[in-house]
Amino acid sequence: MSFPITRLRRLRQSKLMRDMVRETEVNRDDLIMPYFVCPGSGVKNPIASMPGNFQWSIDLLVDEVKDLIQSAGIHKILLFGIPEEKDETGDVACEHDAIVCRAIRAIKKEVSDVLIVADVCNCEYTTHGHCGTIIDGDVDNDLTLVTLAGQAMALAAAGADVIAPSDMMDGRVAAIRKALDDGGFIKTPIMAYSAKYASSFYGPFRDAAESAPQFGDRSTYQMDSGNSDEALREVEQDIAEGADLVMVKPALSYLDIIQRVKSTFNIPVVAYNVSGEFSMVKAAGANGWIDEKRMITEILTSIKRAGADVIITYHAKEFGVNI
Ligand code: PBG
Repeated sequence: MSFPITRLRRLRQSKLMRDMVRETEVNRDDLIMPYFVCPGSGVKNPIASMPGNFQWSIDLLVDEVKDLIQSAGIHKILLFGIPEEKDETGDVACEHDAIVCRAIRAIKKEVSDVLIVADVCNCEYTTHGHCGTIIDGDVDNDLTLVTLAGQAMALAAAGADVIAPSDMMDGRVAAIRKALDDGGFIKTPIMAYSAKYASSFYGPFRDAAESAPQFGDRSTYQMDSGNSDEALREVEQDIAEGADLVMVKPALSYLDIIQRVKSTFNIPVVAYNVSGEFSMVKAAGANGWIDEKRMITEILTSIKRAGADVIITYHAKEFGVNI
């Protein structure tokens, strides 16, 4: 009987041994925690489909961000807004005192060691819930670039550290870069949602942000889930237009895309572990069907192992508290 010379189990025999040779480990520094900010004061409105997540009024969000830093050691957040009023084009979000602009100012006034990423899109701000201006039943690309640039400017002026367009219009990175540069914000980076797929995994987010399209869907502007080469074209285009970081979204069903993007381009890659991915874990956890804590670590590790340098995840706070 012959025995194997190479025994891969040797390095798996103890925790210390495994810890020593682990290739990929998620750190607090890798993570960004998303928040939804709403009007009013004293509001902490639970989002039913996303357990542990809330619509926060600005006053309570400021305290929550302090707690995120203190209890979880997470210093990066992504903000979405639920405005007092919506309009046809999303112009409400281009105002100096738009809801997310006010939130950024309030947080920056009281918290110094936080990095704020501001999502730029019109779907939370339009009455019809689409990501841009509707002409003849479809989102008009070039008219939408105007509101996107306006919204980006308002957010940068309020103190956003990173501008993150999630609309999937063609040419938006260039339009936003030009507006920021002309406005004196040459140092504000753009994190482009470059390969953003038309996905059923965004369902819970649309409850949270009250941004579901009132007719049709987003498949004329977000990517088709069968496509992979096209993701590289999107990323290439965004880099050419001046993106500083590129994103793949969702993450789990698109790990192959993350890996292709990472191996093709030498630019930081962000992955968005989206609301539906989060809620599936929470639902299974609540039923006792899975070991939730271990699953969260495994999921985040897989996203990083695929090639993500940064992960946006609703698990960020609990992960930071638990590790
Ligand atoms: C806005 C936007 C969406 C998400 C992030 N930015 C929703 C959408 O495109 O419909 C989804 C995030 C999530 O599901 O967690 N366009």
